[in-house]
Amino acid sequence: MRAYTLKNNNIEITFIERGGQITSIKVPDAKGNIEDVVVGYDSMDEILAGDGYFGALCGRYANRIVGGKFEIDGKKFQLDCNNETNHLHGGAEGFNSKNWAVSPIVLDKFVQAYQLSLTSEDGEEKYPGKLDVSVIYGLTADNQFVIEYEAETTKPTVINMTSHSYFNLRGAGKASAENHKLQLNASKYTPISAELGTTSGEIVPVKDTPFDFTSAKEVKVACKTDHEQINMVDGIDHNFVIDDFDGSVKLAGVLLDPESGRKIEVYTNQPGIQIYTGSHFDGSEIGKNGSPIKQTAGIAMETQIFPNSPNYAHFPNATLKPGEKYKHVCIYKFC
Ligand code: BGC
Repeated sequence: MRAYTLKNNNIEITFIERGGQITSIKVPDAKGNIEDVVVGYDSMDEILAGDGYFGALCGRYANRIVGGKFEIDGKKFQLDCNNETNHLHGGAEGFNSKNWAVSPIVLDKFVQAYQLSLTSEDGEEKYPGKLDVSVIYGLTADNQFVIEYEAETTKPTVINMTSHSYFNLRGAGKASAENHKLQLNASKYTPISAELGTTSGEIVPVKDTPFDFTSAKEVKVACKTDHEQINMVDGIDHNFVIDDFDGSVKLAGVLLDPESGRKIEVYTNQPGIQIYTGSHFDGSEIGKNGSPIKQTAGIAMETQIFPNSPNYAHFPNATLKPGEKYKHVCIYKFC
């Protein structure tokens, strides 16, 4: 398995060709102490045998599609369901499980960059259309890790890609991320329906709910609140609606570890961001630093359109047609 490294004077990012999985991001604090800030494993054997979503590129449709069903222009499609009754992260053999073709690319704005390419055949995971996907991983001199997605299709299809790192700014495996402070430019979120196992279709204000991160707040405050939506998924596993979405790249949120002072700003041109506190981590797997991976081992901040968008006309449009280009930008800026 080939591994690649992106480096500037401060940060070092390593990823592998399978799933474009980011396996480490080494970031200094203000005093120059370096920690690896993404949840994962210490060895390549463990990476290959372990959670295939850690740091991975997810697609064709990241997050859930209820019943794996959708319709485009009256034509019905049925994807496989790999998450109980739903389709999750592109199915059992999603983009996270594919070996991407990786090549270095020179672009003025980046100190270093790689292009990752993949062709997803017509009918793969039962999605319509052959999809050509390009993802650029670029690192700027001012510590922005930029992920630029592009895709084109031969037939109308649905697409929603994301990057699935769990961040722990204290250092993965060193402490829980529950004391991290999260701030989101999101005055609304999309609640979950227990019956559907994902978004109910509602878009509601965060005000007076544990999902109010409009001012910075410790993640554990929300996770420990007795609230139906929190109890349903044992923490946060929700999509937030980024304010004033207009398709331009905007600041979606900030994650800060008060103790180390490390901070990430997340920018995107997407309308949503899934915050996931890792409720399925039960400590049975050993991760970096020999530590069991437990809930809030890290916080995932996945820029995206909303879960199950293909089935809700009032959610963002997930359809990509021939002649159109899917363009998604996600920036993790380390401050
Ligand atoms: C989803 C979780 C899911 C996890 C799997 C996240 O993006 O929101 O519900 O369990 O991915 O790794």
